[in-house]
Amino acid sequence: MTDVTIEEMPLPASLDGPEGAAFAEMVAVRNEIEAAAVGNYDLAETPAVILAQNSNPYEPLRLFVARGDGRIVGRSLHELQSGDDLRSAWVTAEVLPEFRRRGIGTQLFERALEIAVADGRSIVQSFAMHSMMGGDRIDSPTGFGSVPRDDPGARFLAAKGFELAQVDRMSRLPLPSGREVPDAPPGYELEQWVGATPERRLGDIAALQQRMSTDVPLGETDHQPELWDEERVRDLDRRRLSEGRHWMITAARHVASDSLVAFTELVTAHDTSRPAFNNSTLVLHEHRGRRLGMLVKAANLRLLKESAPGHPSVYTWNAEENRHMLDVNEAIGFVPVGYEGSWKRSLA
Ligand SMILES: CC(C)(COP(=O)(O)OP(=O)(O)OC[C@H]1O[C@@H](n2cnc3c(N)ncnc32)[C@H](O)[C@@H]1OP(=O)(O)O)[C@@H](O)C(=O)NCCC(=O)NCCS
Repeated sequence: MTDVTIEEMPLPASLDGPEGAAFAEMVAVRNEIEAAAVGNYDLAETPAVILAQNSNPYEPLRLFVARGDGRIVGRSLHELQSGDDLRSAWVTAEVLPEFRRRGIGTQLFERALEIAVADGRSIVQSFAMHSMMGGDRIDSPTGFGSVPRDDPGARFLAAKGFELAQVDRMSRLPLPSGREVPDAPPGYELEQWVGATPERRLGDIAALQQRMSTDVPLGETDHQPELWDEERVRDLDRRRLSEGRHWMITAARHVASDSLVAFTELVTAHDTSRPAFNNSTLVLHEHRGRRLGMLVKAANLRLLKESAPGHPSVYTWNAEENRHMLDVNEAIGFVPVGYEGSWKRSLA
């Protein structure tokens, strides 16, 4: 076992000063570990983005780093979710490739697990970006998707008593996309904006975000409904503003009720060599089957082309069993490039 110390890293108030520098070092380590799994740096993030994401008051998080050889060599996270009934927590550990198989991952993981145990959680969950290696597979309990049994994340989590709960597909769309924007079906209109949610739409977006936590396939994961109100949307917009990225939202308005019933989000860095990401996409149940998913996605890609041209690609994540969403994405031109597994273990 390598001589490392595991320390909690408090979130810095800003990225200036020594605490900000330590946070930036942690983010560089995060990016290296992710690139080792994915095979490139497309998913690398800036410290500003990670700080904004980690500072979510609705999903409190504790961060630990392993230091050895005078540098950060790994990190772990302990995360709660809003609306959580205190039954489960998410825990992850990551170690730089050159420091693996020396027990550092186990030390980090156990530090974050201790909190779940002390909090009286009965379920702990984890996720891993799995490699595209061949060989024997572990099948998802949903019946859709699998992960390599022998990649480091799968071996580590299986050794710690976790079972696979769901598989998400990571897909990439090369740009420019030639997809035409279809006409809106009768009774619906498009609404689009860049940046913060318009004041009059805060309630609609809160309702759509809340349904994102219940109306998407969740596999065997333990996932509690999130609670969203206008203030939570404002908080999200404030943190997004601090990231220094460009957010684009396209929604479908149901004309009769003047309410938004579908939405999708794209985000890009200002650096045009970086890819864009398609975050949430949702069509409310009662409005499905009218091709609103394709409408908002295609219209948002057009908004990307108009308001932030020049990016090489778009990435998105979908549950492997989410056939309707995958049909839309495949028709647009997204192709699978990786798989992420959600894992679960009982602490009882
Ligand atoms: C998974 C990860 C954290 C393991 O870190 P690590 O420091 O190598 O972990 P440890 O040395 O404590 O390994 C603990 C056990 O996990 C298993 N394991 C970990 N990596 C393995 C590998 N490449 N092949 C086989 N077994 C492996 C083994 O049982 C190992 O015990 P052993 O070395 O005594 O056989 C590291 O590979 C990593 O950062 N991967 C990318 C992120 C990730 O997938 N994290 C896991 C989900 S949160």
